[in-house]
Amino acid sequence: MSRIAYVNGRYLPFADAKVHVEDRGYQFADAVYEVCEVRAGRLIDERRHLERLKRSLGEMSMTMPMSQAALSVVLREVVARNRIGYGLVYLQISRGVARRDPAFPPQTPPTVVATARPLNLARNEALAQKGIAVVGVPDNRWGRVDIKTVGLLPNVLARQAALDRGARDAWFVDKEGKVTEAASANAWIVTPAGALVTRHADHAILRGITRTVTLDVVKAQGLTLQERGFTLAEAYAAREAFETSATQIVMPVISIDGHRIGDGKPGRIAIALRREFHHFAEAT
Ligand code: PDD
Repeated sequence: MSRIAYVNGRYLPFADAKVHVEDRGYQFADAVYEVCEVRAGRLIDERRHLERLKRSLGEMSMTMPMSQAALSVVLREVVARNRIGYGLVYLQISRGVARRDPAFPPQTPPTVVATARPLNLARNEALAQKGIAVVGVPDNRWGRVDIKTVGLLPNVLARQAALDRGARDAWFVDKEGKVTEAASANAWIVTPAGALVTRHADHAILRGITRTVTLDVVKAQGLTLQERGFTLAEAYAAREAFETSATQIVMPVISIDGHRIGDGKPGRIAIALRREFHHFAEAT
């Protein structure tokens, strides 16, 4: 079965799904995106993802290309046409096609693309049961990573540096020595006293939807929460560590820069948050 992509109003086989060479997403990373988990064919936290998309577009002086309800139909259609049970749906909106010039082009329609792909649930669960290794890398990104743009070169290089160092992901560390977030996830630790710590959300991290839902789980379970930066040294000495994203949910971290975290196994709290997550997420 050929994969189907939505491109500007049409559902096309991948071979025919094309965007112009002068698309501003391609030339300037002048585009934003969302990734939503699909579980049992349903979109998880779709409303929150579309609201964040609207905010990202607003921050780049763009509006939604169609109503939230219409976008939702497109996403569902892409999921259905690709017969996704468990996987992800990807939505990207660029400022459109225009002669190359940094200034906004006048009245150009945006380029809207949506794709979906299956993920291997058993493999993801096996990974979560084992936990992952991460490494710290300097956070050399721009100052507005709260906008979910496709300008992800530092994230790409960080992820590859992690793989080259035998780890699975990278945690960005800012100039003050504080962990901001992972290459495509939010970073968390559990202190020896049992408090959950994740960096406060401002312009220096993406306010993850999974982070937001996990905060709800944390509060419902009556756990102690601190939204603040933490250093790598604090993370090495943590009882637990984990990261959150739409495609990983809660992923335990068992080693940071080669330092074993806790007893080197996924932590009790991370496992519990992962187990509870979908009771708190919205499935539509
Ligand atoms: N990334 N921080 C960064 C830099 C991210 O790219 C992501 C998500 C997150 C977590 O956000 P959420 O919980 O809403 O998925 C945090 C997606 C999954 C990606 O780029 O594939």
